[in-house]
Amino acid sequence: MIGRFNHAAIAVPDLEAAIKTYRDVLGAKVSESQDLPEHGVTVVFVELPNTKVELLYPLGEKSPIQGFLDKNPGGGVHHICYEVDDILAARDQLQKEGVRVLGTGEPRIGAHGNPVLFLHPKDLYGTLVELEQAS
Ligand code: CO
Repeated sequence: MIGRFNHAAIAVPDLEAAIKTYRDVLGAKVSESQDLPEHGVTVVFVELPNTKVELLYPLGEKSPIQGFLDKNPGGGVHHICYEVDDILAARDQLQKEGVRVLGTGEPRIGAHGNPVLFLHPKDLYGTLVELEQAS
């Protein structure tokens, strides 16, 4: 069911510092930051030859990553994302297997303009998993 690894997302407490680290210390190509108000985050894409890493920073008062940063003040891996061909078929199959889907269960449009869903970390070994329908 799951296909390519799409990205890992790291929540950071200081976006400018994280950009500098990835760009100047690690020597990666880093995109301009993008505000995604409907997701409550500002995101920067670190473009690697075979995949990407997203740096997430809270945007607005009810950011879904604020609680994570409160628990992990230095930052940390927030989620990983796998691609699927058909997100509704993947959701239905996973739910049948007992994997909980977060939120309403209806896909939302993610940072790349594709439908995404998040799966409960307690059902996947402590890891928040995002599924993205490959375009
Ligand atoms: Co993501």
